[in-house]
Amino acid sequence: MNSLELTTRSPEQTQEFGTRLGELANPGDVILLVGKLGAGKTCLTQGIAWGLGIKEYAASPSFVLVRELKGRLPLYHLDFYRLENLAEIAELGLDEYFYGQGVSVVEWAEKALSLLPPENLLIEMEYIAETGRRLELKPSGKRYREMVARLK
Ligand SMILES: Nc1ncnc2c1ncn2[C@@H]1O[C@H](COP(=O)(O)OP(=O)(O)O)[C@@H](O)[C@H]1O
Ligand SMILES: [Mg+2]
Repeated sequence: MNSLELTTRSPEQTQEFGTRLGELANPGDVILLVGKLGAGKTCLTQGIAWGLGIKEYAASPSFVLVRELKGRLPLYHLDFYRLENLAEIAELGLDEYFYGQGVSVVEWAEKALSLLPPENLLIEMEYIAETGRRLELKPSGKRYREMVARLK
């Protein structure tokens, strides 16, 4: 299998893994984060931002839906938490992000999987204990399988 499973034992470990992802990221990469509130999606995104050389804090963009941060590559940090339905998401015209030159990271991607690029790195995140988060990486497409292989 091409998937990768790991457990982080602290927020710092979640961030560190994100940083490795950010360091490996290429223009146009799409990373989809799936998991409930508290699973660590924003924490992982913070690490990805650092891996892209971004100094800013990656706060959750729940209220603005998309935040763009500037680093080695731009990071488009999206969060679908507050979106009610697919039509609402479709109307936002998000393809300029997904098919642009930056790296897109989507929290609550499960709300709109059918609208998102079919080639992506899906990361399922789960709260397993107060100091434990389970991450399962599921790549779709050659680019992302290679990325996961490099993380092993
Ligand atoms: N492995 C871990 N162990 C303990 N706490 C963690 C771990 N990973 C992340 N956290 C913490 O979990 C909390 C929720 O994370 P957050 O990224 O806000 O979740 P989400 O965006 O999925 O709702 C944060 O305080 C974060 O620092
Ligand atoms: Mg969040």
